[in-house]
Amino acid sequence: MCGIVGYIGKRDAYPVLIKGLKRLEYRGYDSAGVALISNSGELHVYKAKGKVSDLEQFVADKDVSGNIGIAHTRWATHGEPNSTNAHPHISSSGNLSIIHNGIIENYSTIKRQLQDKGVEFKSETDTEVLVQLIEYVQSSQQVDLLTAVRLALREVIGAYAFALLDKNNPDQIIAARQSSPLVIGVGKDEFFLGSDASPIIEYTDRVVYLDNQDIAVITRGKEEVEFCNFNNERLEHEVQTVELNLGQIEKGGFPHFMLKEIFEQPRCLQDSMRGRVNIDVNHVVLSAVIDYRRQLINARRFIIVACGTSWHAGLIGKQLIECLCQIPVEVEYASEFRYSNPVIDSRDVVIAISQSGETADTLAAIELAKSRGAFIYGMCNAVGSSIARATHTGSYLHVGPEIGVASTKAFTGQVTVLTMLALAIGKARGTINNADYEKVVSELSKIPEKQTKLLECNDHVRDIARIFTYARNFIYLGRGYNYPVALEGALKLKEISYIHAEGYPAAEMKHGPIALIDDEMPVVVVATQNVLYDKVMSNIQELKARHARVIAIVTEGDTRVKDLADEYVEVPQTIECLEPLLSTIPLQLLAYHIAVCKRKDVDQPRNLAKSVTVE
Ligand code: M6R
Repeated sequence: MCGIVGYIGKRDAYPVLIKGLKRLEYRGYDSAGVALISNSGELHVYKAKGKVSDLEQFVADKDVSGNIGIAHTRWATHGEPNSTNAHPHISSSGNLSIIHNGIIENYSTIKRQLQDKGVEFKSETDTEVLVQLIEYVQSSQQVDLLTAVRLALREVIGAYAFALLDKNNPDQIIAARQSSPLVIGVGKDEFFLGSDASPIIEYTDRVVYLDNQDIAVITRGKEEVEFCNFNNERLEHEVQTVELNLGQIEKGGFPHFMLKEIFEQPRCLQDSMRGRVNIDVNHVVLSAVIDYRRQLINARRFIIVACGTSWHAGLIGKQLIECLCQIPVEVEYASEFRYSNPVIDSRDVVIAISQSGETADTLAAIELAKSRGAFIYGMCNAVGSSIARATHTGSYLHVGPEIGVASTKAFTGQVTVLTMLALAIGKARGTINNADYEKVVSELSKIPEKQTKLLECNDHVRDIARIFTYARNFIYLGRGYNYPVALEGALKLKEISYIHAEGYPAAEMKHGPIALIDDEMPVVVVATQNVLYDKVMSNIQELKARHARVIAIVTEGDTRVKDLADEYVEVPQTIECLEPLLSTIPLQLLAYHIAVCKRKDVDQPRNLAKSVTVE
């Protein structure tokens, strides 16, 4: 979590940094800060608790001159969110300032050692330890700053992407990366730094992604960034062209990114299928399945590792792969898997699902699986992300940047890619017959059109949301492919409206949760017309007998559930394994409208951040 930005060049740095922070604010918004070296050589550091807009207000009457600077938006880990713990942090001499994303695991040991040597600390953060250590090494060993950084980093255990300013060298920024993302934008006579490319793309599309243990020296006037590792060996990095445009990271007339992203889903799914689903011959091609056919079709077992919404997509993936490929699938929370002792070897394929491609637990799960010889397939949205680079192969979602903290289009993108993967492997293994294969491919290609039609329910869902805004608890039920949809609906509601919500397989109610039901409990039931329809009908009857308020998601034209439910939303008919791509959408809208009615900060809910780069 945390977003970092840097600039060195001819422009005024402050506007570039503030705009960059706003683009990265999805990563954390507990506090923000900026450090600038003014044209007269002063180091100015301004920090404020709260959002980037609070920082802007605080800085309004201050000196923000200078064309070199660094800035940070924080998701607190060590020390409460206040202006003292906000970044940038300053070394004792006042010469060095640092911004950091990640966690220094051994910070308390280093802090004690430095305190024993007389170094005084102002904040409770792990980051301050980093800047104090670098300065201590520099002064005690009488070395230049780059050498001090290299030597200091040998002592540090943990994750970091940081940028360092030295008041005595206003022509240079030193940056480094270990397990946290960092991108450098290469402009003409100027350089930009960002946790991702979003603060950079307005100025240049030429970027360099740092690898673990890279140290970058960015010097004004040079054409290239210099890279070395901890042993001072020079490294070469290719400048890449980033394919991201401003429109993709702006709200485009919607009041919130979340709503924009919900409405983008038909287009996103088309993008995700482009070049992969050929509707003329009803065929799916995934390059990874061609390039790594042997590993994928002969897998003894798939293990899906993911967190949060991506884990829910994984549960759907399990059903798809087991059904279409006849290969057993396990779905693990990456945070549990990484500390387990899994029985896993080279016959297993691990599928790592992550929108951001930066989730620390998922990355660690990959490393564990890799160390045991498993083949790793990545499913990320963020191109060039750490997870994308840590896997043997994979398929990008291609749904465009997702900025709202609540994941929406990435979820349906993940389910789409999982469907294509299951189809491609099933076809190659001969575990799906031609007729079924063509039927699923053909129906998959029609989903965007059906989603467009479904999105017309937005006003109706808003009206339902108004009725239930009062609720303190919600239950979400579904079965089969719609059970993960129920989990996902509950997660959406929890994270943006702060209403307690639980998702269950509908038939599990009678084993305990049904005790919660009374006339104040809204129950959202996904009751579409599939093989389990009659069973779910019975579950609804059980709920109504106990006076629950039922909001049903039904197939267009349904009459039986409609008669029983208090409220209903119709979704277009599709084949069962593709239902989540439709039934999820009303649940996304319901959570969105309830949160709006409750006046919550939809895109930046409390305590959360978009990419969870700490464990
Ligand atoms: O970037 P990832 O897909 O790895 O993120 C995993 C979760 O942190 C994420 O899905 C989270 O649960 C979302 N906020 C849910 O909307």
